[in-house]
Amino acid sequence: MANVTVIGAQWGDEGKGKIVDWLASRADAVVRFQGGHNAGHTLVIDGEVYKLSLLPSGIVSGTMSMIGNGVVLDPWALRDEIAKLESQGVEITADNLAVADNCPLILPLHRDLDALREGAAGKGKIGTTGRGIGPAYEDKVGRRAIRVCDLAHLDSLEPQLDRLCAHHDALRAGFDQPPVDREALLDELRDVADFVLRFAQPVWKRLKKVRKAGAKILFEGAQGVLLDVDHGTYPFVTSSNTVSGTAASGSGLGPNSTGYVLGIVKAYTTRVGSGPFPTELDDEIGQGIGERGHEFGTVTGRQRRVGWFDAVLVRQTCAVSGVTGIALTKIDVLDGLETVKICTGYRLHGNVYDYLPSHAADQAAVEPIYEEMEGWSESTVGARSYADLPANAIKYIQRVQELIECPVALVSTSPERDDTILMRDPFVD
Ligand code: GDP
Ligand code: IMO
Ligand code: MG
Repeated sequence: MANVTVIGAQWGDEGKGKIVDWLASRADAVVRFQGGHNAGHTLVIDGEVYKLSLLPSGIVSGTMSMIGNGVVLDPWALRDEIAKLESQGVEITADNLAVADNCPLILPLHRDLDALREGAAGKGKIGTTGRGIGPAYEDKVGRRAIRVCDLAHLDSLEPQLDRLCAHHDALRAGFDQPPVDREALLDELRDVADFVLRFAQPVWKRLKKVRKAGAKILFEGAQGVLLDVDHGTYPFVTSSNTVSGTAASGSGLGPNSTGYVLGIVKAYTTRVGSGPFPTELDDEIGQGIGERGHEFGTVTGRQRRVGWFDAVLVRQTCAVSGVTGIALTKIDVLDGLETVKICTGYRLHGNVYDYLPSHAADQAAVEPIYEEMEGWSESTVGARSYADLPANAIKYIQRVQELIECPVALVSTSPERDDTILMRDPFVD
């Protein structure tokens, strides 16, 4: 299998960015296929920290990077992120970045609507990143989106704006907001159009060429399967499909091209935003893990909720995403704990479940059944070979592997690019 698809197998923030950056040096092209700048990926390379939200994580290593049609693209966020990375010495030109010309745009009116809805939802809010992701995907499937290719035709945008604004003006009126200022929107689009168009092209065609030449392609997922709009903890999810299958539809290559599916899995569990979280810890153990793991969101700075490893969830996400093998990250954060717990099942209304039921009320009510293991006092920070890991850490990894019914291909032991243990190379497996 020459190609690799990386996806998050929990609620996001599993360390996808670090692993994609590490794998990118073995790949010829990296493609994002869903989500938008709601993603937040932190890479650490020789002490230098890079934060990415929209650009593929391969860009820092200089690998050809593409933004596929499945992504919703905020053109101003793209411009800002490129400027920020350039100030850190990363070169970004049309030679190493391509943006699909059929990507739908995230507009200021999407951000407005995201904020208005969240503000009105009170306790029922999703806790979105406020980036306009949901409203932009709604307009895509509602067939009223403005897309990257439209930036080359701004003088004939009126009929599309009529359609878009008819929808948004009605929604805005419901929130006592004025109609969309069409002239201001057009001015903002004119201001950014040329910048984006220099990267715009049919990404599917570029990928076809790259594939024909026998190149290795790395598909980079954002968020995680539990945030998938179909398979996640609905309605507390994002608005795209985050499962591996989206790599094909969101980039323009068929499912036979997406290769090895590498699920990124944190050695414990975190979640940012609202929604059920069966193994959540509200005690000092959870607080300690959160502090050691620096569990604060890259995009919004919000504190992430923390809990024990949930093998039920990861077994389920690996199944629905056809995960071939996992990368287990942040094992070092569990160093020094006397005991560690793994959730192996749920109890609900007197029954035992080996999966997460679909109904939101059931998801909120399940009680985890734990298995307890002895922890390890030795440090795993920076370990680069399996043999360097303490015996109890190895036992933990093996037990995780057994319970999720999926092999471990990589283990990550610090934020640094090279602090990674390779057990099976996904590009050759
Ligand atoms: P992503 O959204 O999946 O790319 O993950 P984030 O970047 O949002 O969050 C993962 C955080 O953990 C980042 O700050 C990484 O630098 C850091 N990280 C990644 N792998 C490891 C690891 O193995 N150990 C530790 N301690 N930190 C890690
Ligand atoms: P990465 O790629 C963690 C969560 C938000 C919220 C829900 C919906 O860094 O793993 P949205 O703005 O997408 O409509 O918010 O999804 N969320 C993430 N949580 N990591 C992410 O991305 C996320 N992207 C969105 O917190 O609960
Ligand atoms: Mg993140």
